[in-house]
Amino acid sequence: MLKKEYSKDLSKLNTFGMKVTARYFYEYDSLADLLDLDFEELVGPVKHIGGGSNLLFTGDFKGTILHSAIRFTEVLSESSDEVLVSVGSGVVFDDFCAWAASKGLWGAENLSLIPGEVGASAVQNIGAYGVEVKDIIRTVFCYDTQEEEMVRFEVSDCAYEYRDSFFKHADGRYIVTHVVFALQKGYSPKLDYGNIRAALGLAPDSDTDRASLTPQQVRDAIIRIRREKLPEPGKVGSAGSFFKNPVVPRSKYEEVCASVPADTKVPHYEVGDMIKIPAGWLIEQCGWKGKRSGNAGVWDKQALVLVNATGQALPEEIVRLENKIIVSVRDRFGIELSPEVEHL
Ligand code: EPU
Repeated sequence: MLKKEYSKDLSKLNTFGMKVTARYFYEYDSLADLLDLDFEELVGPVKHIGGGSNLLFTGDFKGTILHSAIRFTEVLSESSDEVLVSVGSGVVFDDFCAWAASKGLWGAENLSLIPGEVGASAVQNIGAYGVEVKDIIRTVFCYDTQEEEMVRFEVSDCAYEYRDSFFKHADGRYIVTHVVFALQKGYSPKLDYGNIRAALGLAPDSDTDRASLTPQQVRDAIIRIRREKLPEPGKVGSAGSFFKNPVVPRSKYEEVCASVPADTKVPHYEVGDMIKIPAGWLIEQCGWKGKRSGNAGVWDKQALVLVNATGQALPEEIVRLENKIIVSVRDRFGIELSPEVEHL
């Protein structure tokens, strides 16, 4: 079925809870309905959204919003070590993670509780706790709105990078319809990021090769960690991490180290010759953690997350806070933050 709405209230369709409308809103729940759409006829701009968890609407949307309600989870094949599963773009990503864990399959557990839907996950290359969704994607199926045909992209064709993909640069040409994930049957927990071991009650250097964890146990630990640090979806409006973690030359990292007291350790990760510094740490150093600016705020347990603190924040209040933070971090560290959240 193709659902068409006019002057649609988007406040429940963006996790920031911005009270904005879209001139047109179309939702389809089958491939046939998507193929029926005449893209030349749609009132532009045309934007396809997922769970609205990585978007900031900066005002009412003047064109057409599309949304997939294609929801299925289907095992395609099973070998001695791997299960291939095809999942519709409109499935809530965490429902897929829950499904994988319930079947005892490895691969998706570290991505538990990331807001959003399967289609968007493949566009954004979502990631958390040492795993990116590209690590479990095998094939992405899309509708090519220009050629008006279905196309498939193997994971190696998708140009996946940190929160980036080929699809993000294709100007909305490709609409993800379903994604094939490869999940593992063999024991393969990924526990090296941050405090996952501690959350599982394991010693930092414990020999997990012989431990008998289940994907469900790891999923539960990830959920506990996220709940401690991040605002509860549905209660406090946010779009998760608002900024990307900047990647800087080593000389810049050394400057940052020299600018803080000698006993302050600058968290960082090596990325080839460059150094990634957590934006949350930089923002906290600038004194923003837990601060409010009108109805907008910086989350008190994770400074990378901007929130709609009162539920009443206007888009411009979030943007104003964003700009103040960018200026602070630039002035203090000479590092330019860029938003991870897409502004519409
Ligand atoms: N940190 C601070 N202060 C803060 C926040 C972080 O000092 O306010 C420090 C932490 O102590 C730690 C480091 O920064 O040393 C990294 O923090 P964390 O592990 O929380 O991860 P992050 O780099 O802030 C990224 C992703 C998150 C993802 C986590 C866990 C980005 C932009 N964000 O955050 O993704 O959940 O890692 O893997 O890469 C999202 O994209 O929406 C998202 C939540």
